[in-house]
Amino acid sequence: MTPASNTHSAAAAHNVLSQFAATGVQSCFHGRHLQPQILAGLDGSNWRLKDYEARGGYQALKKILGLDGAVPTGSPVVPGMTPDQVIAEVKASGLRGRGGAGFPTGLKWSFMPRQFPGQKYLVCNSDEGEPGTCKDRDIMQYNPHSVIEGMAIAAYAMGISVGYNYIHGEIFATYQRFEEALEEARAAGFLGDRILGSGFSFQLHASHGFGAYICGEETALLESLEGKKGQPRFKPPFPASFGLYGKPTTINNTETFAAVPWIIRNGGQAFLEVGKPNNGGTKIYSVSGDVELPGNYEVPLGTPFSKLLELAGGVRKGRTLKAVIPGGSSAPVLPAAIMMECTMDYDSIAKAGSMLGSGAVIVMDDSRCMVESLKRLSYFYMHESCGQCTPCREGTGWLWRMVDRIHNGHGKPSDLDLLNSVADNIQGRTICALGDAAAMPVRAMIKHFRHEFEAMIPQKTPQAEQV
Ligand SMILES: Cc1cc2nc3c(=O)[nH]c(=O)nc-3n(C[C@H](O)[C@H](O)[C@H](O)COP(=O)(O)O)c2cc1C
Ligand code: SF4
Repeated sequence: MTPASNTHSAAAAHNVLSQFAATGVQSCFHGRHLQPQILAGLDGSNWRLKDYEARGGYQALKKILGLDGAVPTGSPVVPGMTPDQVIAEVKASGLRGRGGAGFPTGLKWSFMPRQFPGQKYLVCNSDEGEPGTCKDRDIMQYNPHSVIEGMAIAAYAMGISVGYNYIHGEIFATYQRFEEALEEARAAGFLGDRILGSGFSFQLHASHGFGAYICGEETALLESLEGKKGQPRFKPPFPASFGLYGKPTTINNTETFAAVPWIIRNGGQAFLEVGKPNNGGTKIYSVSGDVELPGNYEVPLGTPFSKLLELAGGVRKGRTLKAVIPGGSSAPVLPAAIMMECTMDYDSIAKAGSMLGSGAVIVMDDSRCMVESLKRLSYFYMHESCGQCTPCREGTGWLWRMVDRIHNGHGKPSDLDLLNSVADNIQGRTICALGDAAAMPVRAMIKHFRHEFEAMIPQKTPQAEQV
């Protein structure tokens, strides 16, 4: 390739990418949220500490430390909530991890061996590499102190004195913004030694990755944070017993931490009631694909999908809904008819046969070819496999090559069964869940849209297929 064509292709790539660059207007300042908690009142410029405090920020941290009322000078500060009470409140809230698996946050916090004598760590997972997901970057860009306060509360609850926020490498401006917010919080005494004069100390640092999807998997993230190649570890042991530098570690997603201050300010029960049983609070959905107004939408868990679609402006004009991937590219696709009956919460989407995942809602209209879509997804997983385990390293390549040949008109009638069989041989047989994430979309696409795959396969006799 000549230098000129190199420059040309870089410019072309920039042009394509700039179409998708979030300006904020589309992403989260459209005002089309329902009962927002994390994105409430944001306008893009009010991310600083003074703005956050004006919105009630750091009140929750003051509340647990017993500093929300007037403390007479010289009298000892009595904590407003004990660590056990904070964990109990988070358990009562029904908050489930917003990073993908939906694991109950309070329960995860209770796994931390608080009496462990050595160093313990708190880690925020801001790697956000799941295709379709773009919420954590908006939280860090426009409301960074909500994450800092949430992490400080979590650290207090688990007796942790050091934390890291691991931020995706390709959003460097967001990493810089977060560093600025950290400086503000330290200067105001919300981070550091003896926070606000209390007996609680917490040092928080930001660290950035280099854009590998696998570094979002919690143990690969820990390896990367330690300066090693980002490859997942075998579990068990889980990070709660063997985490960062081999020490007890709790890892949560950015949005999970950002939800915590609201819970402490308003109570776990109030948070639970915003959502539905076992699915407390609001969730930020990154709605993308064939809708009129793609962007981030914060709505209560349990909101009907049809309402979310309406907020996002509906399906592109002149088109009808064909299918939806409800929770990021790792989640199985669901046909329109099933989605239109679903509410957007962990249990309802699981019952329908998919996952709420990270909340990236990829909307596909009737112009989409499912074979082509699966080809694109399979290429992603093949490319992002870290290569440690054979079923994933080899299997993701097989999946992509088979879907590619079907798409190119060279598929064989037996390919669909073979695709399912390869997916079966990956799922549940790998070190981390990337293998499952590669396999599940294949099975769901074939289950719901088999006719589209069959239509692309030249129908040969079994004898001709041998040739
Ligand atoms: C391949 C892979 C990629 C992942 N990427 C992310 C990510 O970008 N952000 C995230 O929070 N969790 C990601 N996860 C899930 C994390 O491993 C972990 O479960 C999560 O950070 C826990 O936080 P939560 O309990 O608050 O959801 C990923 C998991 C896998 C298997
Ligand atoms: S499943 Fe894939 S990404 Fe995960 S450890 Fe194995 S090879 Fe690496």
